[in-house]
Amino acid sequence: MGESMVTYSAPAKIYLFGEHAVVYNKHAVAVAVNLRTRVSLRRSDRFIYQTDGDTRYIEGALGIFSSLKKIPGLELRVESDIPIGAGLGSSAAVTVATLGALNEEFDAGLGIEEIARLAFEVERSIQGVASPTDTFVSSVGGCVLVPDLTRVTDHLRCSIVIGDTKVVGYTKKLVKDVKELRSRETEILDLIFDTIDRIAVTGLDALSAGDYTRVGELMNINHGLLDAMGVGTSKLSELVYAARSGGALGAKITGAGGGGCIVAICEEKDVGRVVDAIRGRGGGAIVVDVAREGLRRESED
Ligand code: PMV
Repeated sequence: MGESMVTYSAPAKIYLFGEHAVVYNKHAVAVAVNLRTRVSLRRSDRFIYQTDGDTRYIEGALGIFSSLKKIPGLELRVESDIPIGAGLGSSAAVTVATLGALNEEFDAGLGIEEIARLAFEVERSIQGVASPTDTFVSSVGGCVLVPDLTRVTDHLRCSIVIGDTKVVGYTKKLVKDVKELRSRETEILDLIFDTIDRIAVTGLDALSAGDYTRVGELMNINHGLLDAMGVGTSKLSELVYAARSGGALGAKITGAGGGGCIVAICEEKDVGRVVDAIRGRGGGAIVVDVAREGLRRESED
């Protein structure tokens, strides 16, 4: 689309602890990882989008932003490293990056927290249910404690491997399924959520202490509880067990489940074995680092 476009990017995320329970206001720990979505745009007299993904989030971002500034037209291009529908926050990343680029192009003067809040509004209006985790983590980067929405540590001294089942998980349906199970077995589900809350808080202590053996063990327990609430699949568990047998310190579902991805942590020396174990079971394996930067401007090249 030529020159003079403004480009912003925003990262994907994984959950170390706490997905689903976070919908019931329990603690979760999410980490931005260095798979990014880049949105380039410039003013135009028409609206033209180039994307392989869902345009609803772009349109949602434009919709909410036009209540601040009039947008006559736009050429917009999306490039992304983040698999779609994999529970890695691809929709949050495109929403945050679009708002970041619009903010600069139309001089709206929004701060990062404001962008995160608007992006959350967009996600909620499209998904119906959503916690602010994805949009916040994608905006600020690093490791974040939810629902406090505070950055807790800057890096993990362990390796992170994502295992992708390549099956799409439907967050909205899974959140609804958990809600229905809870309406039948309220006391039991609430105990599970409370336990996950404790895991997230304890896990954060373990992270701060650099005790990755304990972090891994807590991830394993968290996985069992996600399975207990019905969001696991045999493929997800297969990848979890493969990662563990490949030497991971811990492995669990990340995100809504029902498909999507697992996340494993391991010592750097074991990355190759963990990756091979996941691939050996037909999963996609991606080695990632913590993305310390959330939304950022990309220079033109
Ligand atoms: O699969 P994802 O990345 O959309 O994560 C869903 C996480 C849930 O806790 C299940 C829902 C939410 O909005 O927090």
